[in-house]
Amino acid sequence: MKNFKDKVIYQIYPKSFNDTNHDGIGDLNGVTEKLDYLKKLGVDMLWLTPFFVSPQNDNGYDVANYYEIDPIYGTLDDLQRLIKEAKKREIGLMFDMVFNHTSTHHEWFKKAMAGDPYYKDFYFFKKGQNHQPPTNWESKFGGNAWEYVEAFDEYYLHLYDVTQADLNWENPNVVKEMTRILNYWLEMGITGFRFDVINVISKESFEDDFEGVGKRFYTDCKKVNDYLRELNEHSFGRCDDTITVGEMSATTIKNCVRYSKPENHELDMTFNFHHLKVDYLNKEKWTLMPFDFMELKQLFNDWQIGMQEGGGWNALFWCCHDQPRIVSRFGNDKEYHRESAKMLATALHMMRGTPYIYQGEELGMTNAYFTDLKQYRDIESINHFHILKNKGLKDEEIYAILQSKSRDNARTPMQWDNTLNAGFSDQPPWMEVNPNYLHINAAAALQDNDSIFYHYAKLIQLRKQYPVIQEGLYEPLLEDSKQVFAYLRRLESETLLVINNFYAKEVTIHLDDIEGYQLLLSNYPSQSLKKELTLRPYESCVYYRK
Ligand code: NOJ
Repeated sequence: MKNFKDKVIYQIYPKSFNDTNHDGIGDLNGVTEKLDYLKKLGVDMLWLTPFFVSPQNDNGYDVANYYEIDPIYGTLDDLQRLIKEAKKREIGLMFDMVFNHTSTHHEWFKKAMAGDPYYKDFYFFKKGQNHQPPTNWESKFGGNAWEYVEAFDEYYLHLYDVTQADLNWENPNVVKEMTRILNYWLEMGITGFRFDVINVISKESFEDDFEGVGKRFYTDCKKVNDYLRELNEHSFGRCDDTITVGEMSATTIKNCVRYSKPENHELDMTFNFHHLKVDYLNKEKWTLMPFDFMELKQLFNDWQIGMQEGGGWNALFWCCHDQPRIVSRFGNDKEYHRESAKMLATALHMMRGTPYIYQGEELGMTNAYFTDLKQYRDIESINHFHILKNKGLKDEEIYAILQSKSRDNARTPMQWDNTLNAGFSDQPPWMEVNPNYLHINAAAALQDNDSIFYHYAKLIQLRKQYPVIQEGLYEPLLEDSKQVFAYLRRLESETLLVINNFYAKEVTIHLDDIEGYQLLLSNYPSQSLKKELTLRPYESCVYYRK
């Protein structure tokens, strides 16, 4: 029986983590070099975003060969050394499997374009109508989702960039190839898989969408469950200690329960993004809006309870390579940098589910606040700069939006110390370093007992120590509070009480049942539990009783 409920996973974006071969780009040896740092933090597994051969149009999410390492990241020997060294420290590796699409540089796609019918059927090539694409679906990176190929007078589907062609999972040969890839890496000692946008791999019907951008025809379709069961049965399901997580785009609780319920033999857990859309104006990402705290709370409560009742399991996260930095987003990266970063960490890590930490989050790394398009690297951000410009927005309005929403906020190089390029590289990095590395960096954090880093380390340690954090049932508290997110976790005679003030204002809360609790963790000098409890700006406390 596998147990992952006491584990915490750390996400590495290798390109921005640590450069050891002096080219301004992070590499696998750079990860190996930092294993002791990660061990000190206490994480159990490293999710590495894709480092396979790729033209890097979407920073590796456009895979051209699933078996080979892109030379910019190193060699197979480097990878094997990383696996070995990580294992020595009891740290597992989770690979990122981008199975919805391949790069158009993949040999399957090249053969398809050369007219080979076997490989054409790996993708969706379809006729248009009246010189229009087959459907009106929009690509998630902007524009229509179909690209015209003159030689065939047909279009191919790309839900993402034009160089990311969607795979046809209806074709059993595609499923076989994917199983083969998973088994290859399992044999090499990989014990985790993250499946990229896995809930869009099945396209139910090719129809125009007059209500939306096409999502309802390809999101969470029933066959996704069949495909996942098949992968599970023929690859990772055969090994007891693997951990799998699916990234789910625009999904529902009901579907995530289905994907992650152990008896369904699909995945161990799911990522969803609803809680990271509470600062979208009219559901549109490329807008500016203060986050809606009540909606955030409601979403957490609904997902916590819904997944619990259904027997599913959540992946818990604030940050990843696709999201702005949380301390700049729902915290306060100026006056209350330390307090708010710690509060956000506590609020998340004590919930029911498996926490993920994204590189630099444990230091309180902030948004980049870039002011020039030249500083941006992300294809989605650059596309949207032009889309917003065409809509008539002024440059300063566009930059304000990018500064708050761009994925590049997460991708600036890891801040290791206060030396040249934050100690990330001795060469100009592929993307600019955030100038605040002078005071926000790992070396400084390690020397400060009260740092955000040690707060994260403590949260991880508490999870290992207290079964109630791993297994306890979730119960919302103070649901009407407009400022405080609080909840209980209960397991037999143990109770955990978690209280988080999400604002820079003090607030007094009323608690009925306070007997017998001891304080486990806070981001302020401790205060004992009272019926009328005044919380300081961004204060969070965790109390425990048995
Ligand atoms: C989700 C990944 O996290 C993102 O970075 C990527 O652009 C898309 N999937 C497409 O693969």
